Amino acid sequence: METSRLKGFHKLSREERLDRVALLADLGRDEAQSLVLGGMDLDLADQMIENVVGRLGLPLGVGVNLTVNGRDRLVVMVIEEPSVVAGMSHAAKLMRGEGGIRVDLDPPIMIAQIQVLDVPDAEKAAAAVQAAKAELLAHANGLDPLLVRVGGGALDMEVRHLVPLETGADGDDALADPLGPMLVVHLLVDVRDAMGANAVNTMAEGLAPSIEKLTGGRVRLRILSNLADRRLVRASGSVPVDDLEGHGMTGRDVAEGIVEASVFAERDPYRAATHNKGIMNGVDAVLLATGQDFRAVEAGAHAYAARSGRYRALSRWRIEGDRLVGRLEMPMAVGTVGGVVKVHPTVRAALRVMEVLKAADLAELAASAGLAQNLAALRALAAEGIQSGHMRLHARNLAVAAGASAEEVDLVIQEMVNSASMTAAGAASILERLRAK
Ligand code: MEV
Repeated sequence: METSRLKGFHKLSREERLDRVALLADLGRDEAQSLVLGGMDLDLADQMIENVVGRLGLPLGVGVNLTVNGRDRLVVMVIEEPSVVAGMSHAAKLMRGEGGIRVDLDPPIMIAQIQVLDVPDAEKAAAAVQAAKAELLAHANGLDPLLVRVGGGALDMEVRHLVPLETGADGDDALADPLGPMLVVHLLVDVRDAMGANAVNTMAEGLAPSIEKLTGGRVRLRILSNLADRRLVRASGSVPVDDLEGHGMTGRDVAEGIVEASVFAERDPYRAATHNKGIMNGVDAVLLATGQDFRAVEAGAHAYAARSGRYRALSRWRIEGDRLVGRLEMPMAVGTVGGVVKVHPTVRAALRVMEVLKAADLAELAASAGLAQNLAALRALAAEGIQSGHMRLHARNLAVAAGASAEEVDLVIQEMVNSASMTAAGAASILERLRAK
């Protein structure tokens, strides 16, 4: 991508925006149109889930200004909430300096869990599994030769002991843990460019009989864990403090406000949930646009946020010298093979716009959008509050719907904000008055 810094992109008409994106991403006419149409073939939809009667459309926007690891990238976002695409783009602009957002990724390792009950001797069983590890891994890899051929496969195994939970302080017997100890065998699998659920579930199911023999126990569940904590992504970005100036506040005031907001979320689960929701606004919008299992990433994010036993913020912001620095760490189980990715025309076009060739490219972008979105939310909360931005965007939508041209839009918005009248009729009458002048 030659540049993602598209000045005034939001002021263009929809058609002009599409042309600009298509040119930058070198999209063919059909590809560009598939971003507009957004739909998958109804017959395909019918094959994917049950009881299909139709499809659902959502707004698809393009976030601009992002630089990730020194490369400019556009980011396609699907979301129903106003301010997310604009906020992401603004924060990405703030973090463009010095290579932009820096991201590093763990290898794409997913965990499968095999639950073993009624084990006669847990220590002996764990030792037996460890002793048979090489054969078990070879067996697992035999179940997915294609994955092995592309450089992935089962790498390791771990055995965990789960003891019964203590009865809670309220002593409610009905909720007491009814089972004895159990063993859980974890299979660690490098899934390369897949999200990985199919690969690891097949392996877990395939190994279960051997695990029963080795442990003398009884296997029940065989399924991946969405707490993909071996597949973390770390994104960091910084902004010169002075660049945060605005709304009558100095840059340092705003930066300090962002640090105060961050520490609030680091200390308090009530705030952390909302802080993390802001991050997921950016992450999920990218995941939706690219046909990912966003529930899997959501589940992983929140479980990871609670890994210390207490739910915490996934990111933190600090002032370091004359810069505000943010760091985000979270699991990111995404894939560019399998699922809907290869068959959905809009997803394919979105991946082309984002220059995503492999899962790592997508993980990088989703995390960067999350970090940028987090900065946008905290900046707004620390400075003008979240409602005024929402109101301006709402006013923009009304002004455009009333027929305001690119030159007229800003004037109409200003009048609407001044008059605190946010209705379609208000926008139309302001536009009429403006044109009469
Ligand atoms: C709203 O969708 C997201 C925010 O609540 C995030 C936050 O509070 O940090 C604005």
